[in-house]
Amino acid sequence: MKLYTDYVDIMHEHGLLRQTFTGALKIWTCCGFAHLFDLLNPANILEIGRCDGHSLGLFRFLAPLATIVSVDPVPRGHAQKVIDFMDKREVASTMVDFMPRTVFIDKTSDDAFSSGLVKDLGPYDFALIDGDHTFEGAMRDWKNTKPLMAKNGVVCFDNLEMDCGKVFDKIDDYETVKPFHINFRKDPADGGQYGFVFMGERP
Ligand SMILES: C[S@@+](CC[C@H](N)C(=O)[O-])C[C@H]1O[C@@H](n2cnc3c(N)ncnc32)[C@H](O)[C@@H]1O
Repeated sequence: MKLYTDYVDIMHEHGLLRQTFTGALKIWTCCGFAHLFDLLNPANILEIGRCDGHSLGLFRFLAPLATIVSVDPVPRGHAQKVIDFMDKREVASTMVDFMPRTVFIDKTSDDAFSSGLVKDLGPYDFALIDGDHTFEGAMRDWKNTKPLMAKNGVVCFDNLEMDCGKVFDKIDDYETVKPFHINFRKDPADGGQYGFVFMGERP
């Protein structure tokens, strides 16, 4: 399994670590993602909410050859720097002869879904919903993401403790999905919590 601490070290060594990183991705979170990705081996990833690119870089680190579709209406230079660096580094270390595909869609998730592009690039083995943190926005993201998931895919909701997290409690389609609150907190101080929905059997 790849270690989260290696990712932090790499980012640090190359001057790519930002203050937001320490708040956004803590050790428990990342160990959890590393374990999940080890089991899931996702080939196709959807990220809603990119910000400075720290979750994006982590996904690339954990899934070097995956196609990652990343949606955010506010493109930030730092995210591009992170992914350019990670892509090149992963190509060198895995010695594959193609550049892993990272697709930036610089739109709101509503616009990205209605453009058809997100659908065309799916289905997805893993999706992160971490964009608009309102209840309504996260609910639309869930409804738009669900039909694009692969049979045994996993959807992750960030910030269950916020309004958007209430979406997680409203999921009632237990016939087809298995919601699962998970208690690996980002940090005991900020209380950020993830929720996972397993579209099929839990890996
Ligand atoms: C919490 S940050 C994402 C953090 C990132 N996933 C990470 O862990 O490094 C939330 C991001 O969602 C974006 N956002 C806000 N509304 C959005 C929407 N409707 N669709 C997609 N992204 C949105 C914001 O611009 C912001 O960059």
